[in-house]
Amino acid sequence: MDKLEKIQQIKEDVRNKVMARVKKTSLNYEADESQVRRQIEAALETVVQQKMEGHIEDAVRRFIVEEIINGIFGLGPIDRLVNDPGVWEIMVNGPKEVYVEREGKLQKTDVVFEDEGQLHFYIERILSPSGRRVTEFEPYIDARLPDGSRLNVVRAPIAPSGPVLTIRKARHKVLEMQDLINKRSIDEKTAHFLKACVRNHLNIAIVGGPGAGKTTILNILASFIPDVERVITIEDTLELRMENKHRVALETRPSNIEGKGEITIRDLVRNALHMRPDRIIIGEVRGGETLDMLQCMNIGRVGSMTTMHANSALDALLRLETMAMMGSVNVSPELIKRQIVSAIDLIIVVDRLLDGTRRVISITEVLKNNAMEYELKDIYALARKDEGGAVTFELKGTGYIPAFIEKFREVEHLPAEFRR
Ligand SMILES: Nc1ncnc2c1ncn2[C@@H]1O[C@H](COP(=O)(O)OP(=O)(O)OP(=O)(O)O)[C@@H](O)[C@H]1O
Ligand SMILES: [Mg+2]
Repeated sequence: MDKLEKIQQIKEDVRNKVMARVKKTSLNYEADESQVRRQIEAALETVVQQKMEGHIEDAVRRFIVEEIINGIFGLGPIDRLVNDPGVWEIMVNGPKEVYVEREGKLQKTDVVFEDEGQLHFYIERILSPSGRRVTEFEPYIDARLPDGSRLNVVRAPIAPSGPVLTIRKARHKVLEMQDLINKRSIDEKTAHFLKACVRNHLNIAIVGGPGAGKTTILNILASFIPDVERVITIEDTLELRMENKHRVALETRPSNIEGKGEITIRDLVRNALHMRPDRIIIGEVRGGETLDMLQCMNIGRVGSMTTMHANSALDALLRLETMAMMGSVNVSPELIKRQIVSAIDLIIVVDRLLDGTRRVISITEVLKNNAMEYELKDIYALARKDEGGAVTFELKGTGYIPAFIEKFREVEHLPAEFRR
């Protein structure tokens, strides 16, 4: 038996001993926790004496106690929301306000925490598997839970009204293109067009507001990459799932307590170039890494993809410009603009509508010209539709045939109207 197994075994023994005495339902958070903690510690002592003659490191001891406590007390008031498969996102705005997104719709719940102290207590508990803490000095953090859920915490002084916790749950089922077609987020023909774009190595930016569905689209586009290609993905927190692909996933790392050891998206982008990538996928660009990403998109035609916050195709280019400028000295605005034009081939805009539905609202080509103004051409755009008094909008081909299609080698998925 190796050490890890031994520790697991001890943990199980202690847990069983304690659980035999404790009735889960009669517990409330603070008073009972310290009592249960003492029981666990006592039981642990006994088991350690029996099994290891008293030899066990303090850190291991603490780990065992915390693991058991976590298992018993769960996540408190929001436990049932976390375990409810219909709930996709949980938003806690201070102790007395808990919202959820249930199948795409935002709703207020009747769940409340007793007070700020209790909320803090559970936030620490949720964060403990990731080994991170929110403190006054690091008042906001992103973390990933062991099940892949994504978590953001902001506390005072940044959020004076009490800690704000946002959980985006990992979905057991990641949305696939067919799901998006069923939800009418995109239609089948347009999906085929995008597939052809990916297969032909276009560099693609997926843009939209927060939570609009950018990463979901990115994930689906990534699934269109042929299995033979080597894909390097770079993310702050692992979100992309690419089963059955030749994929190397890289994740950034925050600095440690002494402020050392940080690894940024930018570091990883630079490193990825030495890893013989066929594709580089950057989960989201939002800063100093922009110029590195553009350069990487311009090297050969790797067919890179990324997401970013922006409201429209033009807005995306302007933001890239600003971000590239921020991250680099001694690069002229003209050069940056030229890099952007030659790097980005296609921009997909997604949006979350008021009724909670998410949709692709435009697909646009960035024309390769030498002018100092961006030239954008919509390939798909929203078209107004009157249906017996009710006005709806639908994504429709504009009739424009993008210039990049001439260079396509693989036209298998390309809808007929784009072929000459
Ligand atoms: N077309 C869709 N229909 C319904 N739900 C969707 C759709 N696209 C995404 N979602 C869901 O919406 C949530 C947010 O999606 P996603 O992570 O893709 O958004 P995002 O724009 O990348 O967000 P962020 O700005 O936080 O990076 C997820 O729970 C996802 O499953
Ligand atoms: Mg995202």
